Amino acid sequence: QESAQEKRNINLIGALLKTRAKGLTAVSNSAGVEDFGVGLLLRSKQIKRMVSSYVGENADFERQFLSGDLEVELTPQGTLAEKIRAGGAGVPAFYTRTGYGTLVQEGGAPIKYNKDGSIAIASKPREVRKFNGQHFVLEEAITGDFALVKAWKADRSGNVIFRKSARNFNQPMCKAAETTVVEVEEIVDVGSFAPEDVHIPKIYVHRIIKGEKYEKRIERRTIRKEGDGKIKSGKPASNVRERIIKRAALEFEDGMYANLGIGIPLLASNFISPNITVHLHCENGVLGLGPYPFEHEVDADLINAGKETVTVLPGASFFSSDESFAMIRGGHVNLTMLGAMQVSRYGDLANWMIPRKVVKGMGGAMDLVSSAKTKVVVTMKHSAKGSAHKIMDKCTFPLTGKQCVNRIITEKAVFDVDSKKGLTLIELWEGLTVDDIQKCTGCDFAVSPKLMTMQQVTT
Ligand SMILES: *[C@@H]1O[C@H](CO)[C@@H](O)[C@H](O)[C@H]1NC(C)=O
Ligand SMILES: *[C@@H]1O[C@H](CO)[C@@H](O)[C@H](O)[C@H]1NC(C)=O
Repeated sequence: QESAQEKRNINLIGALLKTRAKGLTAVSNSAGVEDFGVGLLLRSKQIKRMVSSYVGENADFERQFLSGDLEVELTPQGTLAEKIRAGGAGVPAFYTRTGYGTLVQEGGAPIKYNKDGSIAIASKPREVRKFNGQHFVLEEAITGDFALVKAWKADRSGNVIFRKSARNFNQPMCKAAETTVVEVEEIVDVGSFAPEDVHIPKIYVHRIIKGEKYEKRIERRTIRKEGDGKIKSGKPASNVRERIIKRAALEFEDGMYANLGIGIPLLASNFISPNITVHLHCENGVLGLGPYPFEHEVDADLINAGKETVTVLPGASFFSSDESFAMIRGGHVNLTMLGAMQVSRYGDLANWMIPRKVVKGMGGAMDLVSSAKTKVVVTMKHSAKGSAHKIMDKCTFPLTGKQCVNRIITEKAVFDVDSKKGLTLIELWEGLTVDDIQKCTGCDFAVSPKLMTMQQVTT
């Protein structure tokens, strides 16, 4: 039975639904939402295995995975993009820093659960090799039978272009399949766009279709209002959150390239001093992110990695996900700021999974913390619910990265992290003592001789 809803969805997925083909392996960065896109194929139980970086907001995806009905190979986002790129380029495998010292490299990550919650299929360990004193993980390429891709325009000879931030995984995916089928919004005459503007040369494209209708779904319409210049968010900013945001904003320096996680890190960018320029990078292929759009500026093809609608500033650029993670892995990004569930005293980070409870997926986080050239700042509440420690000797949750965190900012304190010497308390919230901080911290730390009151950006 096909509902009216489905008729408006991307036509290629609609066609695949109609075939009722089962037992599919689907490679897709996330599964979007339940009633759209790949989510529909999950709902119709046609997919046996997903290869994704993020389970995200699709509750059906998480439920099927945790109940043992679906196999999921959680793969770091940058590794996934490069596996697909390598597949298309005839490179069978490659070494990456991403995932070293985590379940991705050690093996044992759940791919399929039993009904009782035990692991039925676990991921295999990866080969490790040292180059220039650093450890790298061997990852194999991905190729597919079919690539189903949504693009903007194709010319009559088969060259394809994408609009704004919609290139993401589509560009490498077009090259990695036996048969690439591209759905476009418009088919135009040859010459309508210049040869140098072609994103996918026709050699990679086997079929083009232009459906009667298509729908561009906005998953997270995020807007700002005239006059207020601040974000419209669901919940009122709590005091604790605001303290962290206003401290985090001091991490920005003039000329920096920075990647900011959704939530506190991105909110901190509202407080960047007008005197400095910070170039914001986004995993899905944007450099030069601007503020959230006004209502009239909302564009379904211009979103950030959290699927929120955004704007770009003059001088911005768009690119694909494999390119975006080349910037990240290659150490071209100066600062990455992200949240955490746990951080160890030597800078191990855990933020993607609580065994048997929460499997969000690592998204791009393992890649973002993989380069020693990128400063990693964690922003988080000092303690978890029920005052369980989040800063501790050794993380108990699966790691995102080993010895990768350089600084921790909480509502109570700021620590510098050294992968050999451990933590040093450099700032604490006014009215608190070193003793107070020790009580709510799960490991020892040194105290800086220059210890000061926690700084806040002035607005
Ligand atoms: C950012 O990183 C580049 C190297 O990748 C470096 O040349 C530049 O000075 C850094 N900028 C800032 C503001 O840290
Ligand atoms: C910007 O720079 C000017 C001149 O150096 C200074 O007086 C002002 O306080 C700065 N503003 C902010 C918000 O940092």
